[in-house]
Amino acid sequence: MHTIDFEPVGLRGECPEGESLLGCARRLDVDLVSLCGGMGACRQCRVQVVAGPVSGRTASEEAVFSGRERNHRLACQAYPLGDVKVHVPPESLTAPQRTQVEGLELDVRPDPPVRGCEVTLSPPSLAAPDSDDLNLRAALERGHGVEVDAIDYAVLREISPRLRQWDWRASAAVRAGEVVALGAPSTRWLGLAVDIGTTKIACYLVDLQTGRTLCSRGLMNPQIAGGEDVIARIYTAGKDPENADRLQGMLVEALNRTVGELSAEAGAERTDIAEAVVVGNTAIHHLFLRLPVGQLGQSPYVPALRCALDVKARDLGMELAPGAWVHLLPNIAGFCGADHVAMILATRLAEREGTSLALDIGTNTEICLNVRGRMTSVSCASGPAFEGAHIRYGMRAAPGAIEHVCLDGDRLEIQTIGNEPPIGICGSGLLDVAAQLRIHGVLDSGGRMLAHPRVREREGVREFVICERGGREPITVSQQDVRELQLAKAAIRLGIRALCEAEGLDERAVGEVVVAGAFGTFIDIDSAVAIGMLPPLPRERYRQVGNAAGTGARLALVSLERRREAERIALACRYIELAGIPGFHHRFAAACAMDRG
Ligand code: FES
Repeated sequence: MHTIDFEPVGLRGECPEGESLLGCARRLDVDLVSLCGGMGACRQCRVQVVAGPVSGRTASEEAVFSGRERNHRLACQAYPLGDVKVHVPPESLTAPQRTQVEGLELDVRPDPPVRGCEVTLSPPSLAAPDSDDLNLRAALERGHGVEVDAIDYAVLREISPRLRQWDWRASAAVRAGEVVALGAPSTRWLGLAVDIGTTKIACYLVDLQTGRTLCSRGLMNPQIAGGEDVIARIYTAGKDPENADRLQGMLVEALNRTVGELSAEAGAERTDIAEAVVVGNTAIHHLFLRLPVGQLGQSPYVPALRCALDVKARDLGMELAPGAWVHLLPNIAGFCGADHVAMILATRLAEREGTSLALDIGTNTEICLNVRGRMTSVSCASGPAFEGAHIRYGMRAAPGAIEHVCLDGDRLEIQTIGNEPPIGICGSGLLDVAAQLRIHGVLDSGGRMLAHPRVREREGVREFVICERGGREPITVSQQDVRELQLAKAAIRLGIRALCEAEGLDERAVGEVVVAGAFGTFIDIDSAVAIGMLPPLPRERYRQVGNAAGTGARLALVSLERRREAERIALACRYIELAGIPGFHHRFAAACAMDRG
């Protein structure tokens, strides 16, 4: 056993032989970012070893740190060999983070699947010894004209003491003829909407009666420990059923923890949550339900389930009202899931006349083209570069992240989140840097970095200095970082082109582009156009709408009509497999060009 000190967080604990610094940090609740789950790929778990012996640097670390950064390590690659003191820089900590819960206002008349009914029962007597279940059914029919077919088993288990405790008055949550929860009189029944992204999760607590969102939370998807993208997670889960259980368990644990926090914030109990809607991409959806995922990783990539599904929350391990249901919106295809349906629902894309495009940019980017009501979708593996992964000084969108830059000659203006001193660069900042470098001729059309007063060479690799940080290595964007960005943006642009071609349409004919998702909300559209990530359309045709998938989940939570509309969307939407388009590799390479195109 070795003793490890994490500073300045002030946490200390024992680390057994063979455990990495990251493993030890996790056990001690030091919230180190680890987007790749400890595979040495994301470069996010950077720490400095202040004192004590640790294992030698690995090849992946050599590629990250310069010779001068001798005590800098990736926590997942460093194994203590004695007592060690570690400094954790703020950019390596997960919190706080700019959340991705903002979205469109709910424009819907609430028509929730769960109805709260106040009831007054007649206390049983020797003359009328009605059982508690029949007594409740009669009260619901008498007071609300509600015919009950079933009372959930978990509700039955507590019905007798509860009715007596509340003096024969109660609030019953009734869903399609089933009593799913019983609460004290005047209980405000709540709903939970969850958008599970590959990297981030957005949770909303909603008043089912009014449709009002009471509070929300954004959190990291803990399944990242099983791989940073869905392919890695499909592989991890497919290798061993225990892995799949573990991935599901860690997700549900995080959701339950968040439900507790949200309930406390709303002054409610988790048992007041009588319904939930969950959306995510198909792999995430399957992992959450513990459905098989192996076939998602093999051509022709078919889902086990496309249709919408209702599951008892308790069967998934979710701690809500005893009989609450979780509704999962339908999927479209193996790589186009319920979150995409939710985005189309929220943006009302299907109802638009003319030609419109909606895209939700993330680790996986789904795009839908609507041509007068005919919808076609595509999914692009844009990777985690926009989350700051694989980028030398990349970080998530948290305070201190450089989010926007503007180059004027050799002067560079930077803007950080929260106006904090710069500690790294997030996706929107990276996009701006690339655009500014391209506009000012520091990058050529192939993405090659050319000479400039701010360009220097470090260990054979060119890099552009963003800002000096007295005494520490400056924050830079390297040639390698630009390459990572090119791959991400090429996937998106090729997806847009493939959709337009499938409709025999010129990109310039697209009348409106809706950009959704947390990253999409904060990017500078002009920068995205300048490097050819988005087509060169007039600026007024673009609209940034925040987390539309989360909004879609909330709509389906409070409106049965919107839930039905989601099913119509999933059935109507055609899907094309990007990797299957003719000349994919050649066209992908062409889409890497840093031109407006
Ligand atoms: S967790 Fe260490 S590099 Fe990703």
